[in-house]
Amino acid sequence: MTHQDLLSIVREYESPIYVYDASKMEAQYKRLSSAFSKVKKVKINYAVKALSNISVLKLLHSFGAGMDTVSIQEVKLALDAGVPAEKIIYTPNGVSLEEIEKAAQLGVQINIDNLSILEQFGTRHPKTPVCIRVNPHVMAGGNTNISVGHIDSKFGISIHQMPHIKRIVENTKMTINGIHMHTGSDILDIDVFLYASEILFEAAKNFKNLEFIDFGSGFKVPYKAGDIETNIEEFGEKLTERFNLFCKNYGKELTLAFEPGKFLVSEAGKFLVKVNVVKQTTSTVFAQVDSGFNHLIRPMLYGSQHEIENISNPNGKERFYSVVGYICETDTFANNRRISEIREGDILSFSNAGAYCFTMASNYNSRYRPAEVLWHKDKAHLIRKRETFEDLVKNQLIFDL
Ligand SMILES: Cc1ncc(COP(=O)(O)O)c(C=O)c1O
Repeated sequence: MTHQDLLSIVREYESPIYVYDASKMEAQYKRLSSAFSKVKKVKINYAVKALSNISVLKLLHSFGAGMDTVSIQEVKLALDAGVPAEKIIYTPNGVSLEEIEKAAQLGVQINIDNLSILEQFGTRHPKTPVCIRVNPHVMAGGNTNISVGHIDSKFGISIHQMPHIKRIVENTKMTINGIHMHTGSDILDIDVFLYASEILFEAAKNFKNLEFIDFGSGFKVPYKAGDIETNIEEFGEKLTERFNLFCKNYGKELTLAFEPGKFLVSEAGKFLVKVNVVKQTTSTVFAQVDSGFNHLIRPMLYGSQHEIENISNPNGKERFYSVVGYICETDTFANNRRISEIREGDILSFSNAGAYCFTMASNYNSRYRPAEVLWHKDKAHLIRKRETFEDLVKNQLIFDL
């Protein structure tokens, strides 16, 4: 997508707006599949939570992706996108038994991450094969909010509870057909992945009827030119060797599964905003845009540093800006950033806006959530309309005083 393409999208559909480049998602999908081309059976389940627009799910499914879901609503979105139930895995955390049973009725692969539900589900549905999410007790991930495989994390069943898991499986006669872990996001060091994988292999030996081993996700993507990222190719080579050896010893060709979110969609996304006000203060120059953390919360929540380009004045003289939003609360997108000269009315483009951006958007300050566009084969397709005032009020019931 060129700057001109992006500007024409803003002219047609206005700002703020999310734009996703289909070809980038396809390239990432192919890159991950080819890193594991020497494993006979590989499943890439896209983590729907990263970006759950049905058109995006359809697109990723057309490349061959299955879906990784965490709520019954995500399961329904994936089914609506035409993904067959057997290509959907449901990995909830802390949800009710009723919700898990509903997902099982829809025919998706159930992944359970606590002993209480494992026992209840196994007792009631011994014939439904279940995957187990273990917690390998590994500290991995870009920051504490996204590190989920360590001992204090609420996710997964501790590997130290293996005797208890086995007792439940024996008592209920349920079948464990998969074993899973997800240790965190933005993991850079492939040795951490490989170390955690060894723990998963060890845990897998406890189950005789496995069909797949799911290594979760957490691949780090670059946020700017020259940025560090997970070396997928090297990781592919090393894990392939180890996985194939495990299957040989296990005596069965298992499926190797992953569930990437960021890796597939982060870099494909751009978030386009318009500069409302350029405000000079005694300490900085603020560029105030027609958005805020209601639309893109990652900088405030995770300290993520999205690249920001002034696409309507790309060759302007570079100056330093603090880019902030219009929310009545501190909503800083970037501090002290070198950006080509910003004028009121300019369009700024935020990079890495594909994953955990729109899906985390809200109506805070009673603003509308943005529109979304899919850029596919050099054409813009509107895949979500901007909200309207009716959307804000449609579920409100007016109490008659
Ligand atoms: C269980 C599970 N799988 C996969 C993912 C996707 O992770 P990422 O976006 O880092 O690839 C997440 C992210 O939170 C997750 O919780």
